[in-house]
Amino acid sequence: MGKDVIVACDFSSAEAVYSFLDKFEGERKPFVKIGMELFYAEGPDIVRQIKRRGHRIFLDLKLHDIPNTVKKAMEVLSALDVDICNLHAAGTMAMMEAALEGLTRPDGTRPLLIAVTQLTSTDQHSMERDLLIREPMDQVVLHYASNAKKAGLDGVVCSPREAQVVHECLGRSFLTVTPGIRFADGDNGDQKRVMTPAEAKKIGSDYIVVGRPITGAADPVAAYERCVAEFADA
Ligand code: C5P
Repeated sequence: MGKDVIVACDFSSAEAVYSFLDKFEGERKPFVKIGMELFYAEGPDIVRQIKRRGHRIFLDLKLHDIPNTVKKAMEVLSALDVDICNLHAAGTMAMMEAALEGLTRPDGTRPLLIAVTQLTSTDQHSMERDLLIREPMDQVVLHYASNAKKAGLDGVVCSPREAQVVHECLGRSFLTVTPGIRFADGDNGDQKRVMTPAEAKKIGSDYIVVGRPITGAADPVAAYERCVAEFADA
């Protein structure tokens, strides 16, 4: 797959997300990220409906449970025919391997599976104090990413700043999906460590996840096209 822009559709109702997606009628159909808010509000049917409209889907539910439970849940997500789904690498290699098993369909096909390493809301201090993990953050991220690769996963969600080192250590084909993207002339909101789409392309991100700079723009289609022009392959 080539580089692409994934739009974080952080809406709380089907109505709100459809009214947003309707703006793209007759345009390039964005790759859509559905997170917990929309999925828990509307259930699996929202995935089927958005898929039916012709969008590719990253289902961002960040699974983390015992291996058997995650395996069974992944079987359900696989039947929803999403393109990418994810889990927490902290769930261990056994959990990641079980997830892959659950995700793989009888014909051998499956959605891409990527791992969250450490959330960007966790910093060195909270990781040491709350999780008793005392290694430096960049090493923890790389270790989790390396576990994900050993377990057979396709890549990781990480900050754009980590994407470069992940590729250097784990190879060009191990995918990096990076949120925290802002236009050079835009508002950062609550995102602390941000990059522009063009910078993210330069450091080698495979997919950028962009929410408010598109969903909150006066002209969302123009904002999306600007991201695509800066980042995506033709
Ligand atoms: O609106 P904004 O562009 O900040 O949205 C970024 C999206 O990426 C949100 O859906 C957010 O939950 C998600 N995300 C993130 N940082 C992470 C993991 C996911 O911003 N580390």
